[in-house]
This record gives sequence, C-alpha cells and structure tokens, in this order.
Amino acid sequence: MDRFRIQGGTPLSGEVEVAGSKNAALPILASTLLLEGEATLSRVPRLRDVETMCGLLESLDCAIVSGSGLVQVRAHATGSTQAPYGIVRKMRASICVLGPLLARRGTAEAALPGGCVLGARPIDIHLRGLESLGATLSLDSGVVRAKASRGGLQGGVANLQGPRGSTVLGTANILMAATLARGDSTLKGCAREPEIKALAEFLNACGARIEGHGSSEINIQGVDRLHGVPWTIPPDRIEAGTLLLAGAATGGKVRVTRMAPAELKALFEVMEIAGAPVQTGPDWAEVDAETGRKRATSVTTGPWPDFPTDLQAQWTAFAAVCEGRSEIKDSVYPERFLHVAELRRMGADAGWESGKAWVEGPSTLQGAPVIASDLRASAALVIGGLAATGETLVKRIYHLDRGYESLETKLAALGGRVVREPDPESP
Ligand code: EPU
Repeated sequence: MDRFRIQGGTPLSGEVEVAGSKNAALPILASTLLLEGEATLSRVPRLRDVETMCGLLESLDCAIVSGSGLVQVRAHATGSTQAPYGIVRKMRASICVLGPLLARRGTAEAALPGGCVLGARPIDIHLRGLESLGATLSLDSGVVRAKASRGGLQGGVANLQGPRGSTVLGTANILMAATLARGDSTLKGCAREPEIKALAEFLNACGARIEGHGSSEINIQGVDRLHGVPWTIPPDRIEAGTLLLAGAATGGKVRVTRMAPAELKALFEVMEIAGAPVQTGPDWAEVDAETGRKRATSVTTGPWPDFPTDLQAQWTAFAAVCEGRSEIKDSVYPERFLHVAELRRMGADAGWESGKAWVEGPSTLQGAPVIASDLRASAALVIGGLAATGETLVKRIYHLDRGYESLETKLAALGGRVVREPDPESP
C-alpha cells in the first residue's frame, strides 16, 4: 500500500487541468450495456473505480479495450447477468448495471452493496424504480434478482424521491432501464446533478428519447435499440473544487482549467464569503487567497444545486485555517465526518456529532501521520497536510486513487511537496 509524504507550508501556485469526471464516467460506462455496436469514450479518468467498472463489464461479457484515457466497449444482447459480490463490495456504483442488464438482457442479479463508511446507503429507491417498470424482484441470501416480463420492461411512473432527497445513481439506474422499455416513462423526484444530465445527453446521442434531464421530472420515450457513439466524458467538478480549496487553504493562487465553472457556483459563493474569491472564465476558475483574512463560513450540503457533499470534507480542512467558528452540516450523509478526528490530530480545534461538524479557527495545523477513511476524507487530509507546518504522512491512499487521477503530480506542478511512496507499515 502507498502513502503520501507531504511537506506542508508552501502556498500552491500555478495552473492545473482537471480530469474527466469519475461520477459521470461510471454510469456512462454502465449504460454501454444498453448499446448495439461500439461506444468509444474519451477523457475517461484513470482511476481505480473506473478499472473496477471495466472489470465488471468484462465479467458481464463485454469486450473492452482501454488506454490513454480512451475506453471502447462492445456489449452484446446476451451474456452473463450477474454482478458478483466481489466487485459490488468494492464499489457501490456497480449497482448501476442492474437497470441496463434488465432492460437489454431481461434479467439481472447483483449482491446488495450493504453499508459503507459514509453510512447506511440503502438501494431501496433503485429497486422500487425497477418495479415501477414492471420488473419482478426477489431477495435471496443478500442477492437481489430482477426479472423483466416476457416482452421486456414496460414504461411506467416511478417516484425516486428519498427521505434525504434524490439519489444520483438511483436516478441513473432507472433512467437507463427506461430507455429500452416499451412505451413512455415518467421519473419523478429525480436527481438534478450534472452527472445525470451527462448520462442523458450521452444516451440521447445513442438514440434514446429523454427529456427533462437536469430537472426533477424526466420523461423517457422507450426505443427498440440504442447504438454506440464516440463520446467525451465531461470534467470532474469535485476534483476542480478540491484543487481550488487546496489553493485557498495554503494561501495560494491556483487556476484550474478544462472545467465547467457553472457547476461549482455553490462552492464559489461560500469561498467569496470566506475571503478566498474565485474568478471564472468559460472553462477555468482561479482562486486568489494570497492576501486577506480567511473568515469562518458555515456550509450545509445538499443535492444539486446546493453545496456538494463530495466537497464537505475538503471544506472542513479549509475551515481549520479560517478565523472563527464554521459549522458544516451534511444533509446527504450525516455520518460522513471521519476526517474530523484526523484533522484534530493535526491540531484542528474541531468536533462532530451526527449531521454536523464544527471547526474553530484559525488553527496552526501541524504535520502528523493520519489515516484516510474514504475518498473525499483522503483529499481533506491532503489539504490539511499542504496547509500544515512540517511533515504529514497520509496513509491508505488507495481510497484517494479511487477518485483522483495523479493527484500528487498535479499538486507537485503547483509547487506542493507531495511524494507517493510505499508504506512500510502496511501489510
Ligand atoms: N438513498 C436512499 N435510498 C436509495 C438510495 C439512496 O435512501 O435507494 C439516500 C442515501 O442514504 C443518501 C442519499 O439518498 O442519503 C444519496 O445517496 P446515494 O447513496 O444515492 O448516492 P449515490 O447516488 O449512490 C452519488 C455519488 C457519490 C455522492 C452522492 C451524493 C457516484 C458514483 N457516487 O452516490 O459520490 O456522494 O451521489 O451526491 O456518482 C464520491 O464521489 O465520493 C461519492 C461518494
């Protein structure tokens, strides 16, 4: 296992390009199961989660060729319909193959993913949505089996609203299933995240008839077949936000390019209030935090267009260097605060209870050995390490490799002193 060795205290400065979006790439890759012919995806980020999704598609008898950010997938109308536990366990997004498998191959089986470090994360809405399209479901020994009726899935009305709002992958799953269903479908309570728009735009280019994506109600007219097309994965808004927050926390000046600034409005609003203003152009954003006081600013995460939960941990790290008390509420994952204890080990005056964290700043963060608990928590610890004085060792960065492409290289290009090395203490 690798770790990062970070020598902190240097303001980041310069320009860096973001990779393609992990959370757009994963459902788009799953959707290739629906397609006749070949789909060629470019700007696919080189990440562990993408490798896992490609491995899953191969286990479902898809032919995959990949390299240099390109992934070509050829899926067939027949083949395995079982998503194995070994893969689903590693990555929850695997559940996204249920809808396409059912729509194209008539049956689908997947191990239930169970909880994760972010909390319970059920998939009841995915299952309810598939039932609305006429699927019959059964649950046996932790495996969900879904079957379409003899003529295939049927259009229907599905309500995807959950107790904490919408579900991104749930919306993606049912949307994919409905594209090949007979007749029309209406999906209510849909996630409005840019990743859903990206998926629907890809599927429309493949011949689907989807309208209303980006709003909470999506209408789909089922079609008989979909065909593969060449397609470019859009930029990763969470990676862009992470790099900008790293710039802000170190008191630096960082420009992030090849991104979509409109997707980070909620972040830029609070960065402005916090004294780390962001300027934007058509496809870039630049934070200038070299001068001025950083002021504590509270945030509450929520579904799009609110402040994203996937930037909550990174904001918490930034809050540690701001003056005053910040309250950070996570309405999507109330238990997603394991990074707080590690930031405390670096000297942050912070705490959390279910649903919210608080940080009293400014703290003089000090380098320490810390352990990453999940993907975005890892990013927060890297930001903490960059802002701290002295040396930080971030252990278990395999979490980070799930969702950030070559983060250490990008940070080094900005003057950050970050080195990847094998962890002699890991098994
Ligand atoms: N929920 C239900 N029932 C369901 C599904 C979800 O109650 O059937 C609830 C969850 O408990 C949670 C909320 O709905 O409170 C949303 O969570 P969900 O598990 O649906 O999220 P997701 O769609 O599986 C995607 C991203 C996550 C991101 C969330 C929220 C991908 C691959 N994953 O997950 O990304 O945090 O949306 O925006 O797109 C990450 O990249 O670090 C990450 C965790």
